[in-house]
Amino acid sequence: MKWTSLSHWLAATSLLSSVHGQNEWPVHDNGLNEVVQWDHYSVLVNGQRFFFWTGELHQWRIPVPELWEDILQKLKAAGFNGIAIYEHWGWHAPNNETLDFTSGAHNFLPIFDLAKKIGLYVVYRPGPYSNAESNGGGLPGWLTTGEYGALRDPDPRYTAEWSRYWEQVADLVKPHLVTNGGPVIMWQLENEYGHQFLDPDLKTPNQSAIDYMETLNDYTRGWGIDVPFTANNPNMWTRAWSKDYSNVGGEVDMYDISPTQPSFLMEFQGGAYNPWDGPAGGCLENMDATWVNLFFRHNIAQKVVAVNVYMAYGGTNWGNIAYPSVGTSYDYSAPVHENRLIGDKYSETKLFGLFMRVARDYAKVNRVGLSTAYSTDPSIFTTELRNPDTNGAFYVVRHDYSPSKEITQFRLHVTTSIGNQTVPQHGNITLNGTESKILVTDFPIGSSGKKLVYSTAEILTISDLHDRQVIVFWAPSGETGELLLKGAKEVEVKSGQDITFQTSTPDGLVVAFNVGETPGVLEFDNGVQAVIVDRQTAYRFWAPTLESNPFAWENQTVIVNGPDLIRDAKIEEDVLYLHGDWSIQRDVEIWAPSTVKKVHFNDKEIKVEETNYNSLAGVLEEAEATIESVQASLPGLTEWKVADGLPEAALDYDDSRWTDADHMTTSHPVPPDTYPVLFADEYGYQAGNLLWRGRFDATGTEVPSAVYLRVIGGLGFGWSAYLNGNFLGAWQGGMKNKTGDLTLEFRNTTLHKDQENVILVIQDTMGKEQREGALDPRGILNATLITAAGSPKNFTSWKIAGNAGGNHLLDPIKGTYNEGGLHAERLGWHLPGFDDSNWELGQPSDGFKGATARFYRTVVPLHLPKGYDISLAFELNHPTRAKLRAQLYVNGYQFGRIIPFFGNQIEFPVFPGILDYDGDNTIGLSIWALDEAGGAVDIQLKVLGVHRSSLDVFFDGEYLRPKWTDRSEYA
Ligand SMILES: *[C@@H]1O[C@H](CO)[C@@H](O)[C@H](O)[C@H]1NC(C)=O
Ligand SMILES: *[C@@H]1O[C@H](CO)[C@@H](O)[C@H](O)[C@H]1NC(C)=O
Ligand SMILES: *[C@@H]1O[C@H](CO)[C@@H](O)[C@H](O)[C@H]1NC(C)=O
Repeated sequence: MKWTSLSHWLAATSLLSSVHGQNEWPVHDNGLNEVVQWDHYSVLVNGQRFFFWTGELHQWRIPVPELWEDILQKLKAAGFNGIAIYEHWGWHAPNNETLDFTSGAHNFLPIFDLAKKIGLYVVYRPGPYSNAESNGGGLPGWLTTGEYGALRDPDPRYTAEWSRYWEQVADLVKPHLVTNGGPVIMWQLENEYGHQFLDPDLKTPNQSAIDYMETLNDYTRGWGIDVPFTANNPNMWTRAWSKDYSNVGGEVDMYDISPTQPSFLMEFQGGAYNPWDGPAGGCLENMDATWVNLFFRHNIAQKVVAVNVYMAYGGTNWGNIAYPSVGTSYDYSAPVHENRLIGDKYSETKLFGLFMRVARDYAKVNRVGLSTAYSTDPSIFTTELRNPDTNGAFYVVRHDYSPSKEITQFRLHVTTSIGNQTVPQHGNITLNGTESKILVTDFPIGSSGKKLVYSTAEILTISDLHDRQVIVFWAPSGETGELLLKGAKEVEVKSGQDITFQTSTPDGLVVAFNVGETPGVLEFDNGVQAVIVDRQTAYRFWAPTLESNPFAWENQTVIVNGPDLIRDAKIEEDVLYLHGDWSIQRDVEIWAPSTVKKVHFNDKEIKVEETNYNSLAGVLEEAEATIESVQASLPGLTEWKVADGLPEAALDYDDSRWTDADHMTTSHPVPPDTYPVLFADEYGYQAGNLLWRGRFDATGTEVPSAVYLRVIGGLGFGWSAYLNGNFLGAWQGGMKNKTGDLTLEFRNTTLHKDQENVILVIQDTMGKEQREGALDPRGILNATLITAAGSPKNFTSWKIAGNAGGNHLLDPIKGTYNEGGLHAERLGWHLPGFDDSNWELGQPSDGFKGATARFYRTVVPLHLPKGYDISLAFELNHPTRAKLRAQLYVNGYQFGRIIPFFGNQIEFPVFPGILDYDGDNTIGLSIWALDEAGGAVDIQLKVLGVHRSSLDVFFDGEYLRPKWTDRSEYA
């Protein structure tokens, strides 16, 4: 994640790109082919310039391949013409010998087929290091033990590993490159690796980093990857890897922002991740629809021509996939929510995206002016961008003080093909507080040859239906707009309110109108139809494409008003086939070529009538199932079984199958304080909870009276210790501590003189740190027995239990991150098919007393109504700031984790496919109490969304839910 830092008060930069002649900005390619090119202005694919607008998603954060299409369709519908994806090395490489690109969601190739089918380009970002707020930044755990050096450098030990991984990735992705007919147009080398210079100001080359980047480059070219290479710098000022800033080696083809290259924001803020102690539900209010409106347009004012919205769909941090700071949600307050629902932020994103899709002239503009002098009101700041070839211009207006809450009415001085004008001629443009608008002059209407000389309402979209062109304008309700349509002489109001002002000029017709809740339709005598809607209506407008082309040409789209989503469209003979979503009864209105007489929506004909302005009007009937009805039909989570979750605390627990923790040396760069080495890495455990059992004797004169433990697990982690089954104490953790140390007095516990004594330490881990911190171990840094005499004493031996099988993959579908070493996890109690018939009955909401742990299980039959897309979540309520840690398992997937002591997230959406919507679902809940108060968690299943939909959430997902097999060897 990178925050492209734009302060809330958007400072007016004085950096004006001067108007250069054509030859001063040559078009570049990577020397291998001319399929993808670029220059100062924009990216070109097959010679075609465009505003490149991608949305980031991480397929491994939505481990249900059947749902990827849903996300991609939603992004396409919002006007995106591409996606960007990070790969996650560790997800594919459970150990140093296995690479898995086939099991379940490990096979990411369907993303490329979907992108191609839907018409989205792909920026592929396979790492090897990805960051992404993910466990180890995507570096596999086994790589972070020190055995492979410091990583992200030219060390041959590291090179051998990343190249083994990347060679396969290259092999798999190569057929999907645009040069081979696929959607991938860029390939990113490394990530947030701004290390080209030891000192960015003095430009002292960092030879090791340069060698690494060159090796990445050379190997990848050697494997036949021939699209441009890009980089993504952690901030602008490292200026690493740009040919515009250096020539010391390792430079990539296309860099974020540099003069001879397109202004490219590889990660523009789509939201923000939510740390453990962040607010429940994330921080959407700071990055809501208003934020989208202002900041997305500000990028246009900055002449940014390629933007990757990070994240467009965040998804989940299921199964220990996150790094320590973040909780189990990666919703990111993104336009498409973790639960796949869309709301106002998405809609506002769509208003921007659909406009930019038809703003073809923007792909080549100069920033020719910026000031407060453009407007009749000095509080309005305007940036003018102009296409030097067509003279089409974009005026981006906002309050000079961008957080302003003022409502300002003004007129704008614009330069058009018919001379200078102050627009509107009648009335005003309104800016309501924190808001921005992009107003256009000399705007071509598709390839019809017609154009708008100016418009003071924003354009939503344009569809060229061959016999007529439809332009949809929008503005907030109650505002006014005015346009000058070139070549028009007459206008007829076909629907909605009257025109407020109209005048004929030699160049065309000027009309002004009010914007209200009822759409207005104006028909001009030159075949142009203007549809005028307010913001809320615009939110329900869609412009699906009829072909799989990221360019989404105006003559290959139709317009649909009404539904909650249009996923795709196709015309065959006189039928328009639409797929989409809706819930309550909706009037639908469709603008399609006049050859279309019938409409099928989700494969069912809907009756339509032609309006007096040649659109088709019909009704989508109210859906039978609603959030309320589905909620009422859900079975209660009332019948639970329970078992002891921490039998390992007992003195006589049989740990003979555990791994001896007996290493006396370590390759970790920072050795422990005491030996043996109690780093889980040493013993092949790299995810989730860890259990340590240390033995000591209490014979002789030096009888220990306390133990000092310093444990490391990452920000927010916790641990508890037991002596011979008795609770000694716990570290509750917090967001400031990666390690936690305590001296625990033995007090009431009787030590055995005649046999060994056992200390059990249970700790959770919060994932591995990113960057250099990935090498931080997880485990015990210092374990010292303290005797009355004050002299330290050693343990006689240690054992460790981690996830069953360690890095030897037990379950290829869910991979090695999903589980840790809890008793329930090692024995597979969380999996469907485990027999709990001899367990006791017990409710997690009743809970238990004492500093121990319990595992609860229930099986929930779901029979949800077919034909709907339904979004479900589990809600885990608990006493305020309770000292417990709980983990939720759904059909074996760890899909939620609460740490009430400082964490706030309680709602955990779970995808269909993980949940069987027409069958039994095994729910597991582990509650680990870190003090004597014990633990209780009230768990509810909640319905978040119900839509009639063409999306099939009743696909056969059985293969995603592997069943229990005997795991007693891991007890
Ligand atoms: C994997 O790691 C083990 C343990 O460090 C080592 O013995 C083995 O040679 C490695 N295998 C490969 C293919 O590097
Ligand atoms: C039109 O406005 C532009 C920008 O303010 C100015 O440079 C130009 O001189 C004006 N042209 C006329 C004919 O007034
Ligand atoms: C336009 O705005 C100006 C300045 O606020 C105001 O004086 C004028 O009345 C407005 N005109 C209309 C038609 O609203």
